[in-house]
Amino acid sequence: MTQTIDGAVAVITGAGSGIGRATALELAGRGCRVVVTDIDAARAEAVAAEIEAAGGGAVGARCDVASDDDLAAVLDTTMASYGRVDIVMSNVGVIAKGLPLEIPLDAWSSIIDINLLGTVRVIRTFLPSLLDQGSGHLVTTGSTAGLFPYAFDRLPYAATKAAVVALTESLALYLRPKGIGVTCFCPAGVITNIVEQVREYGPSTPIQAPQVPLISAEEAGALVVQGIVDDQLLVLTDEVAATMVEDHARDRRAFLDSQLRYLEGQAQDR
Ligand SMILES: NC(=O)c1ccc[n+]([C@@H]2O[C@H](COP(=O)([O-])OP(=O)(O)OC[C@H]3O[C@@H](n4cnc5c(N)ncnc54)[C@H](O)[C@@H]3O)[C@@H](O)[C@H]2O)c1
Repeated sequence: MTQTIDGAVAVITGAGSGIGRATALELAGRGCRVVVTDIDAARAEAVAAEIEAAGGGAVGARCDVASDDDLAAVLDTTMASYGRVDIVMSNVGVIAKGLPLEIPLDAWSSIIDINLLGTVRVIRTFLPSLLDQGSGHLVTTGSTAGLFPYAFDRLPYAATKAAVVALTESLALYLRPKGIGVTCFCPAGVITNIVEQVREYGPSTPIQAPQVPLISAEEAGALVVQGIVDDQLLVLTDEVAATMVEDHARDRRAFLDSQLRYLEGQAQDR
């Protein structure tokens, strides 16, 4: 199935930087009007201004995905500006980094509140409009961290990303028969400002990354938009990640052993 997005109205959270920003620019370039939101108001305004300077339509708004009130205000802004919403992308994800027992419970709560409940808040705020229309597309942002294990230095991140994948797939069972498309974007490595979103606990440890190639934010944004157009359920960023997802699904124990060997090899190289 291919969807037309020209003329659609999109709302994106965390769109002041990285993947959200690139997706906003890509959507605008393909004829969408975009409500660009971010906890950092200046960043949201800057991306909206960039879109307008290129001849597109955009509104910038401050929005913290930990706040129901902020999200309700974004819905109001969207309706006041464009009268509808068609594409909703929940994009915010933050990281608590440290060895498993170094990450305190309040950091776990904070990551769950932003990564998982932030996604739930976005869905609860915007889904009623899509359901009323009987059309639209929801994009959530998972990660390969939620699909297979490659690191033990950010357990809350992996756990919340796995939860985002599961909630997206189960929600698709409900939404697809109602005419609403659902995509979970699961990037591996994308060159963005994500390190700004990392809080470290305990002794500093070298970052454990998946053994897949990095892509640019622009490439990621283009993949998200193609995922919407093609109504893809899961969007990965490359073939290496796709093969790892298959290997993990086929034999989790063998996959874990191969990842342990990879981590040991990395440790020996240092
Ligand atoms: N970059 C990667 O390699 C990578 C890999 C897998 C998944 N992801 C996921 O992609 C998404 C986007 O990450 P990115 O790499 O573009 O990061 P980024 O840091 O470049 O952009 C994230 C934006 O979110 C904003 N933000 C932070 N907390 C917020 C909050 N509470 N409410 C609203 N906005 C908030 C930041 O101000 C920033 O502008 C995240 O969910 C991340 O987990 C990224």
